[in-house]
Amino acid sequence: MKMYYSICYLSKASEDLSKKELNDLFTFTANSNNDCEVTGILLHSIGRFFQVMEGNEQYLKKLFKKIQNDTRHSEIFELFNGRTAHPLFLKYSSKFNVVKSDDDLNNIEDYLTENKLHPTSDKIQRILQPFLLMGMNP
Ligand SMILES: Cc1cc2nc3c(=O)[nH]c(=O)nc-3n(C[C@H](O)[C@H](O)[C@H](O)COP(=O)(O)O)c2cc1C
Repeated sequence: MKMYYSICYLSKASEDLSKKELNDLFTFTANSNNDCEVTGILLHSIGRFFQVMEGNEQYLKKLFKKIQNDTRHSEIFELFNGRTAHPLFLKYSSKFNVVKSDDDLNNIEDYLTENKLHPTSDKIQRILQPFLLMGMNP
């Protein structure tokens, strides 16, 4: 069975990150992850980042080291870091998803509800609750 690697974390966004810097980060991340076949989601709201990355183990471990050293955020709290045979977001989309609008987030919420049997779907859904409540642009 093909194994994938998955990393999921919450972090505190740097307070002096401008809208432009945030958009640049989103664009870079989407392009780079799509080039390297990393699936998952990245969202920013209420001063936090939430990210799920799924893909090749070696690649993701290296990437996560860079992300951990990135000064655009801090207080990284790892929720999952390990192998999985069933990457959750690969079925959602073959592309990496930067979640920018309430509609984007609602679509993900619907998808997670449809996939309730997946072992991490429920956990991710719970983490997304405050983001759903506050919306994507507070
Ligand atoms: C919250 C956050 C999430 C990030 N996610 C990714 C990601 O998924 N993929 C990626 O290539 N870079 C991501 N980055 C950017 C990396 O930290 C790093 O700047 C980028 O990979 C370029 O590194 P390099 O110039 O050393 O190759 C993220 C940065 C932040 C602050």
